This record gives sequence, C-alpha cells and structure tokens, in this order.
Amino acid sequence: MWLELYLGVTLLLIVECKPLTNGKHNKLLVISFDGFRWDYDQDVDTPNMDKLVKDGVKAKYITPPAITMTSPSHFTTITGRWIEDHGVVHNMMFNSTTHKKSSHRVTMKTSEWWDNGALPLWITAQNQGLKTGSFYFPGGGANYSGQSVNRVLVEEPGQPNENETQWRENIDTVLSWFTEDDMDFVTLYYGEPDRVGHAKGPDTPDRKNIIKQIDRTIGYLRESIQRVGLSQRLNVIITSDHGMTTIKKKPLVDEIVLSKYVNLFNLVYFELLDYGGFGMITPRKGKEQEVYESLMKAPNLTVYKKENLPENFHLSKNDRIQPIIVIADLGFNLNSRLIVYVNKGDHGFNMDEMDMKTIFRAFGPDFKNNYLSEAFDSIHIYPLMCKLLRITPAPHNGSLSITEGMLVQNGGKTNQMSIGVLASIFVYILFM
Ligand SMILES: *[C@@H]1O[C@H](CO)[C@@H](O)[C@H](O)[C@H]1NC(C)=O
Ligand SMILES: *[C@@H]1O[C@H](CO)[C@@H](O)[C@H](O)[C@H]1NC(C)=O
Ligand SMILES: *[C@@H]1O[C@H](CO)[C@@H](O)[C@H](O)[C@H]1NC(C)=O
Ligand SMILES: *[C@@H]1O[C@H](CO)[C@@H](O)[C@H](O)[C@H]1NC(C)=O
Ligand SMILES: *[C@@H]1O[C@H](CO)[C@@H](O)[C@H](O)[C@H]1NC(C)=O
Ligand SMILES: [Zn+2]
Repeated sequence: MWLELYLGVTLLLIVECKPLTNGKHNKLLVISFDGFRWDYDQDVDTPNMDKLVKDGVKAKYITPPAITMTSPSHFTTITGRWIEDHGVVHNMMFNSTTHKKSSHRVTMKTSEWWDNGALPLWITAQNQGLKTGSFYFPGGGANYSGQSVNRVLVEEPGQPNENETQWRENIDTVLSWFTEDDMDFVTLYYGEPDRVGHAKGPDTPDRKNIIKQIDRTIGYLRESIQRVGLSQRLNVIITSDHGMTTIKKKPLVDEIVLSKYVNLFNLVYFELLDYGGFGMITPRKGKEQEVYESLMKAPNLTVYKKENLPENFHLSKNDRIQPIIVIADLGFNLNSRLIVYVNKGDHGFNMDEMDMKTIFRAFGPDFKNNYLSEAFDSIHIYPLMCKLLRITPAPHNGSLSITEGMLVQNGGKTNQMSIGVLASIFVYILFM
C-alpha cells in the first residue's frame, strides 16, 4: 500500500513537472512558396501534401492583405500589421517626389523601404532571447532600428530558382541552422510557383509540374526532419503570399490601356502601373478630380480616391499610398500605355477574388492532426507564431483566437500522450 502511494505520488510529481520542462518552446520553421494559389494542389497528384492533411493542419484557404503582392503580403505575415501600418505598399520602392523607382531585388537590401516602425517577428524574437534566421524571405535582409536578423541570406539576381537539387540543399541548410546553431525561428522562401504562374499561366502543365516539385520538396523536408531528429521539437508552417489568375488576352478581351482614358502626360505627375492588377496614380496639382473622373470611364476597372478606400483594405492611413488607386477586374491587364505585356498570369487583384487566395498548412508537435481550419486572414498567422515561440508579441492587428484552435493545448502531442499514459498507470496502481 505504501509503495503504491509512493508510486502514485511520484507519478503525480512527474505529471506536475511536465509543463515546466515544457515551458521551453519548440522551434519554428515558416516556409513560403510565392504565389501558391489556394487550390493548386487539387488538380495535381500531391501525395506529400495529402499526407500533411492527416498529419497536421490545413486551412481551406487564407486571404492576403489588400495589396496582393509579394513584399506587402509577406510583411503583413511577419509583422502581423496591416499594410497601412507597416508601410511596405509595393514590391518596388519609389519616391513620388523624385520619381525614382527601384526594383524588387534592390529593395531586398534597402532598410529604408522596410524599416517604418513595425518590427518583424525575427527582431522581436531576438529581443526576447531567441535566435532567428531568414533564408531568402522578403524583409529578412533589412535592418530594423539598427538591428539585423541573426543569420540572413538574400537571393542574388540571376540565381536559378527552380533547381530542385538546390531546393533540397536549402532545406539541409535551414535544418542545420536548427541542429548545429540551435536557432529557434527560421523563415524560408521559394520563388515558385509564382515565376511559372506569371510566365506560363496558372492553368498550364508547367504550373502542375512545379506543384509536383513543391510536393516532392515537402516530402524531402519531412524525411529530413525525421533524419536529423527534429520531429518532436520543430513546428512547421507552410504558407504563401497571394494566388494567381490567368490574364485575359485579345481577342477575348481588350487590355485596359489607361492612356486611352486619361492624358497621362498632362494630368499625371507620378504613377505605378504596369505591375499586375494594382496601380497608384498621383495627379498633377489641381487635376485630381479630372483624373478620377476620366479613369471612372475605363471599363473593367475600379478606381478609388485614397480617402474613399474600403475600410477593410487598411491602406488609407499610409503616406506612401498615392491619391488614386486603381484595381483591375480579375484577369484584366492594367496597361498604362501600349507596352507589350508578356505575363500569362498575374496577381495584384482584389483579395476577395478566390484566385487571389492562398494556402496555409502546418504540422509538428504543437499542431493537431487531421484538423481542417476555416478560412482566415493571413494577418492572424503572426500571433500564432508568437504563441508557438512563447514570446510576447509586438503590437499587431491579428487575433490569436482565430488560429489557436489548431494547436494542441497543454504543450504538445507527445506530452499529452504521456500524461494520459501516466494517469492510467496511476489509476491502475491505485486499484491494484
Ligand atoms: C523623396 O525624395 C525627396 C528628395 O530626396 C526627399 O526629400 C523625400 O523625403 C523623399 N520622400 C520619401 C517619401 O521618401
Ligand atoms: C545592417 O547593419 C549592418 C551592421 O551595421 C550593416 O553591415 C549592413 O550593411 C546593414 N544592412 C542593410 C541592408 O542596411
Ligand atoms: C542544380 O543545382 C545543383 C546543385 O547546386 C547543381 O549541381 C546543378 O548543376 C544545378 N542544375 C542546373 C540545371 O542548374
Ligand atoms: C469589361 O467591360 C466591358 C465594357 O464595359 C463589358 O462589356 C464586359 O462585360 C466587361 N468584362 C468583364 C469580364 O467584366
Ligand atoms: C493595428 O495595430 C496597431 C498597433 O497596435 C494599431 O495602432 C492600429 O490602430 C491597428 N489597426 C487597426 C485597423 O485596428
Ligand atoms: Zn508574382
């Protein structure tokens, strides 16, 4: 009897102690496959992604913020802030006074474009004692209030980005950051399937092939996690920034050539057009109403004055948003003059269009199995990541209540199981 009581008490103590050892967070890897439309896995054989549905969490789809472009959307994910707050309003950097524009690649190493007060999770986590890394992830290469991410790789121009061997090497590298350098949080970025979506279109065999390649890469990731012994310590989120739609071409539709409706030379001071479905225009002084009314006559286009942007776009507060915003109807190419437009697929359209929706998948010790989440806004990923890393979030616009249902409570599947096993042994001993 004493022995039984003793065992019982010991077991109770072990059970009690569990949450303490568990106060240490698990590691987190976030992978983004640029331009992965929410339904890309539905017309291709994707055995590894299918297996993930059983072994983890899948959201029906997620909704990006209102500028459905790479940098604005990734920065909302990593800061949990709306675009008007984080200020990364385009892939290109621009100055509407000097008319200077810099390419997407250039912005990757230009802190001035990213560092507007909203701290990305890498920095917030580092300030709370964690080690973080960024492999090609947009925003990772910038400094924030003078602080840089512990370990950063920025993609160099001209680098081939569809080489499957290199994709695997990138996974090996990132996993070694966890195992050898004991990093806590790493973000990894792939430029596909965005590149193929633009070049060939989303409804082509090329796009299906790249999805198969992504699926094999996810299979490789899971094997590798097993191989290096991280299965019980690493959570993984797989997501993306926006979807992709087929661009409607002649003779089916006419392109929207804005110069047909408004005299760009005389009336417009600055514009950011010819870049997918989203554009911004700064009229010359005193020409605001004229430009607005002329653009309103263009078909297949929605025109907003900055002050009348819909509330749920969360854009109008930011100075970088120009006075007039144009968003083409889904699939219409927004052409400023008569530039030959080669993209077969594009994005930048309204985030409520299904073709702009993207993916969310997750697995690891803190995620439930076989859990289908309702659709949600990508802004809610941020508080989820903070919860997983057990850090205090910076001020943000997400809500943990939207995403925490996908988590195993009391810290981890394995521990829940062992608590269950211990409890039954305890009961067994008591009744012996
Ligand atoms: C644009 O450039 C001008 C001149 O260099 C500078 O004064 C201004 O602050 C810049 N504007 C923005 C928004 O960076
Ligand atoms: C970030 O800061 C470091 C150290 O001060 C500096 O070497 C680096 O060039 C900066 N990077 C950018 C993108 O400004
Ligand atoms: C792909 O990358 C591997 C490893 O870096 C390299 O050996 C190979 O030549 C590359 N293949 C192509 C087609 O570029
Ligand atoms: C585009 O605009 C034209 C002219 O207003 C209209 O006839 C057509 O139905 C529109 N196309 C779509 C797909 O909305
Ligand atoms: C987003 O969060 C920031 C920081 O807490 C806050 O200042 C801002 O008002 C929020 N935006 C909205 C639309 O709630
Ligand atoms: Zn793109």
